[in-house]
Amino acid sequence: MMRAFLLALSRHPALGRAMDRMPLARRLVRRFVAGTRLPDGLDVVRRLNAEGLDTALTYLGENVRSLAGARAAADVYGEALDVIARERLRCTPSLKLTQMGLDLGDEVCVANTRRVLERAHAAGTFVWIDMEQSTYTERTLAIWERLRRDVPRVGCVIQAYLRRSESDIRRLAALGATVRLCKGAYLEPPALAFPGRREVDDSYARLMGRLLAPESLARGTYPALATHDERMHVLAAQARVAPEKLEMQMLYGIRSDLHAGLRARGLRLRLLVPFGEDWYGYFMRRLAERPANLAFLLRNLAR
Ligand code: FDA
Repeated sequence: MMRAFLLALSRHPALGRAMDRMPLARRLVRRFVAGTRLPDGLDVVRRLNAEGLDTALTYLGENVRSLAGARAAADVYGEALDVIARERLRCTPSLKLTQMGLDLGDEVCVANTRRVLERAHAAGTFVWIDMEQSTYTERTLAIWERLRRDVPRVGCVIQAYLRRSESDIRRLAALGATVRLCKGAYLEPPALAFPGRREVDDSYARLMGRLLAPESLARGTYPALATHDERMHVLAAQARVAPEKLEMQMLYGIRSDLHAGLRARGLRLRLLVPFGEDWYGYFMRRLAERPANLAFLLRNLAR
């Protein structure tokens, strides 16, 4: 219930503006978000690269409603890619299609995303397309598939909480796709998503097994297992897949105590580093995942 409440609040940006005025709330936000500007994000990327970690960089923002806003968001990724290429950073953009203008129509979104992909291709870098609410799942996969024909170095995301994901994974594994598997971070109706944590975990384990199966890997499927769940890490290790055939992904600021263990097993680890003014939705999803984060915030505010 708390998760649903926090995810419902995440749709009310006025609360974010209020939180922005509270130094303590801003401090907690900085645990998960590198900062508000591109240089803040790049500073964290440089530091993590120096520590031997790969990164994905996300410019926070979703449901952009103007052509100029969507174009500007693509420009920020372009700027980031210039620095990534110049400094040879181990960093891949990870973007949301609603930030590229999906709410304004497929063609606007494809044009902006294509611009980022072509710039990334020139920089020798890969791009991830994040997955948002289930209302966008079909269109996101269709656009990913369309763009991938011209610029193959682009990956998509599957959310284990969605009931449809079993058949999506089967299709993507047959295509030999690069797939990030996550549990899913949005509020979804039980008709479309498993409501219980246990069912979501079971689904994650099942879908991970499908991605790591020898026949999927033989087709060129590259699984990126995005989770902080140690039990999933253990299951991934038990599959005994060669370390270069997959990667683990985690979010900046969460469970960094697990990094050393994963790397000691020879696994590639990529941290997703978010930055930007529009941190509110991302931050609320992080609170919803772990009520202890909310308790920490409330305790400190009360003090
Ligand atoms: P779970 O929620 O079961 O947590 C396992 C453990 O991790 C917890 O017990 C706790 O210790 C720790 N933990 C998890 N979240 C925490 C938090 N916020 N604060 C502190 N500790 C926490 N989702 C989506 O819908 N679309 C997307 O495109 C992406 N992209 C993405 C990229 C990457 C690199 C990651 C790691 C995750 C995503 N996600 C996502 C988010 C994902 O769907 C999911 O909401 C979170 O990863 C939390 O789920 P876990 O798999 O970590 O498991």
